Amino acid sequence: MKKATMARLYHPFLCLLVVLGASISFFPIAKATTIAGCSKAESDALLTFKDGVIDPANRLSSWQGQVDCCRWSGVVCQNISNHVHVVELNLENDDYFNYQTALLGQLLNPSLLSLTYLSRLNLTYNDFGGTQIPQFVGSFGSLRYLDLSWTHFGGTIPAQLGNLSTLLYLDLRSYWSYAATNELTTRVDSMEWLKQLASLRYLDMNSVNLSAASHEWLQAVNMLHSLEALRLPNCDLSVVPSSLSFVNLTALEILDLASNFFKSTLPTWLWEFNSLSYLDLESNEFYGRVPAAIGNMTSLDTLILGGNNLDGGTISPSITNLIHLNTFDFSYNNMSGGVPDWLMHMTNLTHLDLSFCSLNGPFPVEIGSLSNLAYLDLSSNSLQGSVSELHLANLTALETLYLSNNSLSISINEEWNAMQLKHIGLSSCNLGPHFPRWLQRQRLIVSLDLSNASIEEALPDWFWSSWPALGALDISHNKISGSLPESLEGMEELQIIMASSNMLQGGVPNLPSWMRILDLSNNELSGSLPTTSTAEYLSFLLLANNQINGSMPSYFCNMIHLYYLDLSNNQIQGEIPPCLNSSMLFFVRLSNNNLSGWIPSFAVCQDLIYLNLNNNSLSGELPPSLQNCSSLTVLDLGENKLSGNIPIWIGVSLQVLAILRLHSNTLSGSIPPQLAQLSNLHIVDLSNNQLSGLIPSSFGNFSAMVSISKYISVPNSIVIRSFPRFILQPTVSIALSAKGQELGYSTSTLDLVKSIDLSSNDLTGKIPQELGALVALQTLNLSRNKLQDRIPDMFAGIRYLETLDLSFNNLSGAIPESLSRLSMLNHLNLSYNNLSGRIPSSNQLQTLDDPYIYAGNAYLCGPPVSNNCSATAVVDREAMDYGSELAFVYVGCLVGFLVGLSGVFIPLCRKSWRYYYYEIIDKFYHSVRVAKRRFPSCN
Ligand SMILES: *[C@@H]1O[C@H](CO)[C@@H](O)[C@H](O)[C@H]1NC(C)=O
Ligand SMILES: *[C@@H]1O[C@H](CO)[C@@H](O)[C@H](O)[C@H]1NC(C)=O
Ligand SMILES: *[C@@H]1O[C@H](CO)[C@@H](O)[C@H](O)[C@H]1NC(C)=O
Ligand SMILES: *[C@@H]1O[C@H](CO)[C@@H](O)[C@H](O)[C@H]1NC(C)=O
Ligand SMILES: *[C@@H]1O[C@H](CO)[C@@H](O)[C@H](O)[C@H]1NC(C)=O
Ligand SMILES: *[C@@H]1O[C@H](CO)[C@@H](O)[C@H](O)[C@H]1NC(C)=O
Repeated sequence: MKKATMARLYHPFLCLLVVLGASISFFPIAKATTIAGCSKAESDALLTFKDGVIDPANRLSSWQGQVDCCRWSGVVCQNISNHVHVVELNLENDDYFNYQTALLGQLLNPSLLSLTYLSRLNLTYNDFGGTQIPQFVGSFGSLRYLDLSWTHFGGTIPAQLGNLSTLLYLDLRSYWSYAATNELTTRVDSMEWLKQLASLRYLDMNSVNLSAASHEWLQAVNMLHSLEALRLPNCDLSVVPSSLSFVNLTALEILDLASNFFKSTLPTWLWEFNSLSYLDLESNEFYGRVPAAIGNMTSLDTLILGGNNLDGGTISPSITNLIHLNTFDFSYNNMSGGVPDWLMHMTNLTHLDLSFCSLNGPFPVEIGSLSNLAYLDLSSNSLQGSVSELHLANLTALETLYLSNNSLSISINEEWNAMQLKHIGLSSCNLGPHFPRWLQRQRLIVSLDLSNASIEEALPDWFWSSWPALGALDISHNKISGSLPESLEGMEELQIIMASSNMLQGGVPNLPSWMRILDLSNNELSGSLPTTSTAEYLSFLLLANNQINGSMPSYFCNMIHLYYLDLSNNQIQGEIPPCLNSSMLFFVRLSNNNLSGWIPSFAVCQDLIYLNLNNNSLSGELPPSLQNCSSLTVLDLGENKLSGNIPIWIGVSLQVLAILRLHSNTLSGSIPPQLAQLSNLHIVDLSNNQLSGLIPSSFGNFSAMVSISKYISVPNSIVIRSFPRFILQPTVSIALSAKGQELGYSTSTLDLVKSIDLSSNDLTGKIPQELGALVALQTLNLSRNKLQDRIPDMFAGIRYLETLDLSFNNLSGAIPESLSRLSMLNHLNLSYNNLSGRIPSSNQLQTLDDPYIYAGNAYLCGPPVSNNCSATAVVDREAMDYGSELAFVYVGCLVGFLVGLSGVFIPLCRKSWRYYYYEIIDKFYHSVRVAKRRFPSCN
């Protein structure tokens, strides 16, 4: 304390000293450094470390050479054999949802090796910027606790970590990349090094890719005799030996192997870990029985087996021996039959999750014997009948009740309040037609899901005043009428309102500053957006499909946490505010409005994956700032007034782009061949512009169109972390071919579409033969250009082609024979060219018997056209030089080319489902972080 006071006291003089120069260096300040404290060597080592670190929030401001380093923030010293030494560096980013307070740069500096007594190093939630953990980290001779969790290190974890023989605690939890690759960013080459950590008690390698060690991981960890906690979730592990000759891990209390790819029966060695209190095998592919041996794991308090293919019908009743069990999660397995009887004996259970278990029968009255239950989830089963207050009477401790997605009718007396629920999920139950009055007496509700619950009534006035703690509300998919209150200022906890697909009228309410998510899509809202807003933390704003008019107010500029914005299908006009500067932008859809002016430039957009401004009146060129949006997966700027060239940088910078739509603009110039570098591109639609020149032959290189097993990677669910039952499902519906007609491609059906549309331009030259390499292509539309020469004989390769339109060109010669081999083809148009000769025949082509397909080609013959081949001289028109272009005859009727949805030959089974976790910590949090987790799943 004394030292600190002195340092502070002398501090002004130190400044003075610098100003006045060295002439007064005899000033007694020198004493401050002679006071016993950390050695100069250690102090210097720390200052060298500080020099290598970027510290935007100035967290290391107390690290000043004149002050004893033991007083610096995060530094802990200890008196060891008469000397003071630095023993701990606790540099964790406490404000761990805030990127701005993270330390960056060289977080592991070799200078730290001078701290020979360092026993704890904590860097959690700082940012290595994707760099590798350096090898010298193995040289910290005294390290006992090493915490590098969530530090965004990358690459291979160095085997030198195995030299840390004194280590008790190792935490290497990692992030995983969510863009196109869906891959873990850190990995090990082998787990041999782990065996050397003989003292290790705690090991967490969450989301480190251990697949290279899949065959040795269990043998490696089985060497760690002292291990008490082993956490290896989401590690790409797939091999699990079913037996183990010798189980060494007798001290193990925590075992977490969730979210791997284990596909086997439950291994027998599991049951020998009889000190285990926590077992989590969630989201693997374990199948078969849950054997009687489970009854021997009497220390278990938590058993999580959800998300496997286990047979719940065979769970041994010996499970009731687990008298300490309070948490049992068997969700997403198969139980079939009714809620099992043995369950009613597990009266110590506080948390029971049997959702998605194919349970049928009634909601059992016997559940009342589980009177300690605080959490009950039976949602997404086939339970039937009704639930009344009698069923719930005994569950007085219940706080969470999830019964969504059953065929249950909930009829509870309006006076009933035997318990006070906090979380209620009754989606798709039958609750209506009136708003259930009993909810009014549930004064502690925090989250309430009444979506799709047959409610057909105007919002009652008690609705906005009954639940002071309400944080999240979902009433979507009912027939609720009336309007929202003008202001929500009274509900100070309410962060999430989901009310889409109702009949709500009136205007968009003024949003209070704590609002985070508002979804009022598919209602009858009108008027303009509120003129002012204090909702600067708003992250999700979905108002699609209403009749909102007016312009986008400038407060969008203040929403620096805006993540998801969907105002599509309204009548919004004016300019897009030139300052959508939220660094979190992820999904922006403003399509089908009357927006004009330029596309704004995006200062920070590295997380933006979806940008749809289709069908507005936007003008100008594509802003070069879009180059920064390196995660863009869907870019749809079609049906605007954009001009200029298609920039080369699209092919260079937007490396994960899967859908590119620039159709119906006034873009000119030639098509840059660089587009073909987009190895993830599934849909390219440049139709209806003024593009000229050749079709680049590089278009045969689109690798996503070569392989049928590549799918578009757009997140299909966004899970709100603090309210995990509130899931947003981005819809990526887009229109293909038929202008203005959205074909309702949901995220999953869109996965299957592979299409090239260059129609209605001024393209010239030949159709490049190279397109024949696009094996998986389903739609090729090159109609209404000035393409010449023969149709290349390339169709043997494009064997999944369903739609082919080459109409209104100058193509000549015979129809290539290979066309008749397209067994999937169901829409064909070759009309208005100069084609000649016999129309090839095959089973498939015979089904396409509309003569219009071949109209305007006077020299074609054979069925289905009326020209008889023997009567007409069969001439190859190409041999004759007509020298002049035929005038194009545009017929008024457009042939509708519906893109086939029949591409079911592509396996829909995916390696993993991606969930995006959107974090909300509390309403006053200044920053949010989007974390990602995946659940392997494949049905
Ligand atoms: C360290 O401990 C020794 C004896 O245990 C004591 O004499 C010495 O003053 C201590 N040093 C400091 C700086 O506290
Ligand atoms: C590191 O700091 C975090 C945050 O304070 C804490 O939860 C964690 O336990 C610490 N790790 C170690 C090894 O001390
Ligand atoms: C058990 O652990 C000890 C050290 O902790 C190790 O020496 C021994 O080889 C291990 N046994 C097996 C069978 O892995
Ligand atoms: C349970 O443990 C006992 C004693 O350790 C053992 O004899 C028995 O075989 C075990 N039961 C099963 C089913 O493994
Ligand atoms: C509930 O727990 C208590 C104490 O842990 C135990 O004595 C009792 O047997 C348990 N009851 C059941 C039914 O498991
Ligand atoms: C209600 O709980 C009590 C014990 O807390 C139990 O004796 C009774 O059987 C339970 N009633 C029902 C209907 O399960």
